[in-house]
Amino acid sequence: MYMEWNDTYSIGVEKFDNDHKELVGFINQLHDGIKQGTAREKVGGILLDLIDYADYHFKAEERMMVEHKYRGTDEHKKEHNALLLRASEMWDSFEKGDRVLNLELLAFLVKWLTTHIANIDKKFGRFLNYNGVK
Ligand SMILES: [Fe+2]
Repeated sequence: MYMEWNDTYSIGVEKFDNDHKELVGFINQLHDGIKQGTAREKVGGILLDLIDYADYHFKAEERMMVEHKYRGTDEHKKEHNALLLRASEMWDSFEKGDRVLNLELLAFLVKWLTTHIANIDKKFGRFLNYNGVK
C-alpha cells in the first residue's frame, strides 16, 4: 500500500473522514495501476474517478461551510479549486498522450491531500465540532 490512512488525519467529522479515506483509496489504486503497468485507459479511468470523487467531496464540504456561515469559506474554496484545476490539467495532458501518470504525480497528490487535511480541513473540522457537527 502506497499511502496508509492513520488517525492523525482525522478532522473529527466522520462523514468527511470517510470521504478522505476514499480519496486515499483512489491514490492507492492509481499507485498500483502505475506500478503494475496496467493498461493506460484503465489508469486514466482511475484518475478520472479520483477527480470526480474529489469534486463531489469538495462540494459537500463547501455546502457545510455555507450552511454554517463559515468565515474561512473563500480561503478553503480557493484550495479546492486550485487542486481541481491542476487535476483537470493532468487529465487533459493525459488524454493528449503525455506521460503524466507517474510516481511524481502521485507524490503531488499525497502531499496536497495530507497538507490540506492537516491545515485547512482540520481548522474547518474544529469549527464544525464547535457547532455540534461530529
Ligand atoms: Fe477541504
